Amino acid sequence: MADPNLLLSQLLAPVFAGHDPVVRPSERADYQANGVLAMAKAVSRNPRDLAAELLPLAAEALAGLATVEVAGPGFLNLTLTDEFLAAQVAQLVGDPNGGVRQAQHPETVVVDYSAPNVAKEMHVGHLRSTVIGDALVRVLTHVGHRVVRENHVGDWGTPFGMLIEHLVDVGESDALAALSASDLTAFYKQARGKFDASEAFQERSRERVVRLQASDPETLRLWKVLIDQSALEFQAAYDRLGVLLTPSDIVGESFYNPMLPAVRADLDSLGLIEESDGALVVFPPGFVGREGSPLPVIVQNSQGGSNYATTDLATVRDRVGRVGATWLIYVVGAPQAQHFAMVWKVCELADWLAPPARCVHVPFGNVLGEDKKMLRTRSGETFRLSDLIDEAIERADQAVADKNPDIVGDERRAVAEAIGLGAVKYADLSNDRVKDYVFSFDRMLAFEGNTAPYLQYAHARINSILRKANSPAGTIVLGEPQERALALALVGFDGAVWDTIDKLGPHRLCTYLFELAQAFTAFYEACPVLKDGVPPSVRASRLALCSLTADILNIGLGLLGITAPERM
Ligand code: ARG
Repeated sequence: MADPNLLLSQLLAPVFAGHDPVVRPSERADYQANGVLAMAKAVSRNPRDLAAELLPLAAEALAGLATVEVAGPGFLNLTLTDEFLAAQVAQLVGDPNGGVRQAQHPETVVVDYSAPNVAKEMHVGHLRSTVIGDALVRVLTHVGHRVVRENHVGDWGTPFGMLIEHLVDVGESDALAALSASDLTAFYKQARGKFDASEAFQERSRERVVRLQASDPETLRLWKVLIDQSALEFQAAYDRLGVLLTPSDIVGESFYNPMLPAVRADLDSLGLIEESDGALVVFPPGFVGREGSPLPVIVQNSQGGSNYATTDLATVRDRVGRVGATWLIYVVGAPQAQHFAMVWKVCELADWLAPPARCVHVPFGNVLGEDKKMLRTRSGETFRLSDLIDEAIERADQAVADKNPDIVGDERRAVAEAIGLGAVKYADLSNDRVKDYVFSFDRMLAFEGNTAPYLQYAHARINSILRKANSPAGTIVLGEPQERALALALVGFDGAVWDTIDKLGPHRLCTYLFELAQAFTAFYEACPVLKDGVPPSVRASRLALCSLTADILNIGLGLLGITAPERM
């Protein structure tokens, strides 16, 4: 058990006679047990009196581990003994998990993320889902869950009518050339332009959709040309970003087509389906439109086809039934909250979704430009992901050249990539995901503040200390307050990872890593490591703290999908 917080809670539980001791990290002491207040209320006692009464019992329960004092309106302040804290940190040495507890009940978790749309270029909006989802996949995997990545790409539906007709018009080989010039947006826009301008083209497009839904072989072949080309473009972006997604994680909308009859049949047998304007729908209770009329989930549209909601009914049925998942996480923008709430309600009614299985929407806000409006290029276009990444890496390369001209060639390229990509990902992850965030190259690439380069630099600096040291790390002995503070930060990694899982909020882990790096900076300023005159045992102990800090930074950044170079 790495997080002392937990051990303290367990040891205090009997003292609190069944009430939660509520142990939290604290500014005043190492930890504070705030549970006296609630307990006092429950047993109608004065909190300070009760605290004074619990004090000796708590002190006895924690003997040798922590000292206890009454504080404030009735808190118990807990200060770990140096020996106990040192022993806790020592347990981290050589632990590739960084002391993170494994899940007691590992689950099969589906994480639905990225999910761009075929024949449309991925833009910064997709960046958030991809980066946040990828971090969640890594963190959940780290604690021992079985994580299944599913990339629910939009590869079906009415737009394919016009896209296929446009493909036919330009001819396959020209279309492929246009598409592989990574000009997916242009292709889409041309098709759209024709669709808006010509009724004849609209008619052809509609007929094409009907043939697509009827599985006409030639139409399916043309459709596949489009989706295969898109998949190549998506994968190039994932490889570039260094995220875990592979082609085999694509489980697009079309994947569910064969399951739709069963979806319909299940709902029908339960008598849930109603007819509405020629469509087959389910009205989940509790959802009404502006005029107070019930809102439908469409099971079959009036043309006999399916839509986005129909497919999402099937995702739940399939993920629980076939994949065996109990935890279904959807990393999708905030505007789709109601869509998911309605779909999941229907899934509950159909009994496809029952405890312990549950669905969770992980929404996120928009990416804004420095003008606080939706991020756009100067000409008003949406930014292309690849352009953003290019620019971040280019700027990082310049920073490396300025800071450390010794780094050249392949190493410089690798370091610039780590910093540039790290900066873009971290800027996204370090903000509470539900909020919009302002995309600023200057800010995200700064070497000061809560940024990836700051953390990466701390890691590289420690590595340089370790390289220079030329002597082994040794037993950790805590003397100076900054040593204690760093040690406390180190043992907090476990808690930070679990907190991140609890909130499905990677910014929790970011904040932790930032505080760890700051604790290291304070430590390094106050506690010389390599200076002449530092006794060998102190030097060895401090080297051990340095080395652990580098390890935890490296593991923590890794969980965010960020590389920590050895030097920079
Ligand atoms: N392709 C959709 C979009 O771009 C996101 C899909 C999210 N996943 C899902 N199961 N609906 O908005």
